[in-house]
Amino acid sequence: MPTPPSSHQGNGLDAFATRIRQSLAEASSLTVDAILLERPRQELHGEFAFPCFRFAKAAGKNPAELASALASTLQIEDVELTAVGPFLNFSIHPSALAQVVLASTLRDDFGCAQENLTTIVEFSSPNIAKPMHVGHMRTTVIGAALSRIFQRLGHKVIRINHLGDWGSQFGKLVAAWQRWGSEEALEASPIAHLLELYVHFHKEAETDPSLAEEAKRAFQELESGEDNLTRATWKRFTELSLREFQRVYDRFGITFDYVRGESWYENQLQDVLAWLEGCGVLEEDDGAFIIDLSEEGIKTPCLVKTTHGTTLYATRDIAAAKSRWEEFHFDQMLYVVGAEQTLHFQQFKAALKKCGASWQERMEHIPFGLIRLTEGKLSTREGRVISLSEVLDRAVDLAQKAVEEKNPELADKKKVAEMVGVGAVVFHDLKHQRQKDVIFNWQEVLSFEGDTGPYLQYTHARCCSILRKAERPIPSFSAIQPELVQDGRDLFVAMGRLPQAIRDAGQKREPMILAQALLRIGAAGNAFYREHRVLGTGDEELEKARLATIDALRRTLALGLELLGVPVPEEM
Ligand code: ARG
Repeated sequence: MPTPPSSHQGNGLDAFATRIRQSLAEASSLTVDAILLERPRQELHGEFAFPCFRFAKAAGKNPAELASALASTLQIEDVELTAVGPFLNFSIHPSALAQVVLASTLRDDFGCAQENLTTIVEFSSPNIAKPMHVGHMRTTVIGAALSRIFQRLGHKVIRINHLGDWGSQFGKLVAAWQRWGSEEALEASPIAHLLELYVHFHKEAETDPSLAEEAKRAFQELESGEDNLTRATWKRFTELSLREFQRVYDRFGITFDYVRGESWYENQLQDVLAWLEGCGVLEEDDGAFIIDLSEEGIKTPCLVKTTHGTTLYATRDIAAAKSRWEEFHFDQMLYVVGAEQTLHFQQFKAALKKCGASWQERMEHIPFGLIRLTEGKLSTREGRVISLSEVLDRAVDLAQKAVEEKNPELADKKKVAEMVGVGAVVFHDLKHQRQKDVIFNWQEVLSFEGDTGPYLQYTHARCCSILRKAERPIPSFSAIQPELVQDGRDLFVAMGRLPQAIRDAGQKREPMILAQALLRIGAAGNAFYREHRVLGTGDEELEKARLATIDALRRTLALGLELLGVPVPEEM
């Protein structure tokens, strides 16, 4: 009879990897930690491979000879060993594999780990008074996925939205508002109106020098910290913008622990400048203050104070990093920000290093590539940049059409279309290597076939439908005959690898690894129900075993998709 789920089986194929590594350690002078298993190049060669080179060197033998000697002498429970050249390959017994993976997927801690780190993930961070455009999508989606992945791995995750709500541009905006602002337009569509004012300001400022003066004065009023009209106006712009951003976050199902814009660090800026001064790193340069970074191999110095005495983006980042360190003592702090800001992150990190802040080593810039639309249009006919909510609306529209075509009887089409549209956009973003540019092609994003979010959502919904049609409770683990679940070998291997994929995705800060693992599960799952009848086989025991397999597939897909931020409808 199958053994009930126990804790060492909580992580899929890991149970076998541990067993194999222990046996190899016993048979050699290596420690378990030094034994690293690989994935065989060919699926047929089994689930794990051990390259014998290092081991052979220690034993003074030729790797191929050692591999074949080990293959014939080592005995590992439920594992078959074969030597292929210098590699020792391990193939798990089908029934043991199916049982352990099935048991794992039933556990709440499937794919969990105990990494016990405090991880800050700073992401999204749009600029107030400007629309969130497609460019902000990647930081938002990648940052949220990494946060969930780290959480699953046992980290204490702190999500921070570092809004761009401070800087001289707000002086311009307030000045523009005082001249041309319309209460009505602001109420109707805040961000659109603020953007209009900003554009107008720049146009007028070309011919009217007094505008620049007004803007400068307004920003000085803001930086004075006094409770004046300028501050009240700026505060209102911030709140109105945030309300619009929140609608996008709600659609993505994203929350933050702290929405702390750059302005939050405002009253720490003078102390930070004093600290930099005390560290002896400030240099005066034509009335401005800079930190020279040439010793750190960075040619461009970091500008921290302008000739007008105002602070800069980098000053506020130094303040934010320092304040977060003092407050959270993070083990790692990730900044999910586009690759175009690489120099900025190198600069303020190097500035902190120069000040002797050794904790700066825990800060990491997580860059990503651009999004490009195939139609070549990132802007509308009027030359306006397409906002993120417009992208989502269009995706949901297309999803609605697809759902109507596929399943006209579906009860809550609108809700499902929202889940499919948003999920499609999110998955498409995450299935690519983070640093590469993403080409956005509507048809490909929303296709129900191929490597897409809707395809995986559909596979999940299909499992739900089979389980519904069975009209019986999902068979419990102990009610299943182990030799009957082994049919889905490829599927169990793919599911059993999920925990490793989650760990790798976290370690490499690369959600793509998880997305790709899910695509393999989806493909194996589709093959499974195509090739194996689940319902109506006339064999009661077989039906129970296959239903349990389908249930495992459903759970595993749901877990992985939720970590990525892809909603999982039960019907579509
Ligand atoms: N607000 C900036 C932008 O939209 C991104 C902020 C990135 N984070 C940071 N700590 N500098 O470009």
